[in-house]
Amino acid sequence: MSFNYATRYPVTTRLLHWIVGLMVIATIPIGLVMQQQGLARPTQDLLFILHKNGGVIILILVVLRIAWRLATPAPALPPTIPAWQATAAKTVQALLYALLIVMAVSGYVRVRAGGFPIEMLDAFGIPAMVPRSDSLAETAQSIHSTARFPLAALILLHVAAGLKHLFARDGVFSHIWPPLGR
Ligand code: HEM
Ligand code: HEM
Repeated sequence: MSFNYATRYPVTTRLLHWIVGLMVIATIPIGLVMQQQGLARPTQDLLFILHKNGGVIILILVVLRIAWRLATPAPALPPTIPAWQATAAKTVQALLYALLIVMAVSGYVRVRAGGFPIEMLDAFGIPAMVPRSDSLAETAQSIHSTARFPLAALILLHVAAGLKHLFARDGVFSHIWPPLGR
């Protein structure tokens, strides 16, 4: 059966979805690997630079995504999708946005309160915006370290559901694909 309803997110939404999605999928393993003992110093430094600065770019893009998303309509789900699935999808998507903000902000606070550099922001002369405080850095660190579990679980759920729609060819995957084009 074919449906005839609004078919895709606007190109900005699709492009941001795939840029942020790939960056997040790369950032999580980098965050884990960069702390391993026995890494060569230059490798470790590079991974930290990628993780911290990439995380800040993710934060900026997620804020833009949320603002843009609130201003533009989303395509309707096909009538074949049961109501519980539509609710589950919206809930998971909202939680993904929320957890990305929690991860990026807690990472930022952990690093700035700890007195460490964020090279990209330092190059632009952007001040820390967070006081130097070991206890604040520790709290932010434990939030950063705990929030990765629900984030990873939601990503797995979301990706599995996305792939299910791809294979079912029910039109939902093409809401978000291709990243560019009409
Ligand atoms: C291979 C991986 C991925 C696939 C196959 C995929 C698939 C999809 C699909 C099909 C939609 C549209 C759903 C709808 O119309 O209701 C969507 C939306 C969304 N995806 Fe993904 N996705 C992937 C990776 C990610 C990642 C890694 C994240 C975040 C960490 C993410 C966050 C979101 C969000 C927040 C939305 C909602 C868009 C909105 O309404 O603002 N996705 N994804
Ligand atoms: C959405 C963005 C981000 C994701 C998904 C993410 C993910 C992770 C993960 C999975 C870890 C390993 C956690 C652990 O071993 O306890 C980690 C560690 C870390 N992250 Fe992030 N991160 C993000 C953003 C940031 C940002 C923006 C910064 C700093 C500017 C940052 C700084 C750090 C630091 C310093 C660590 C090492 C743990 C520590 O010593 O506190 N992260 N991150």
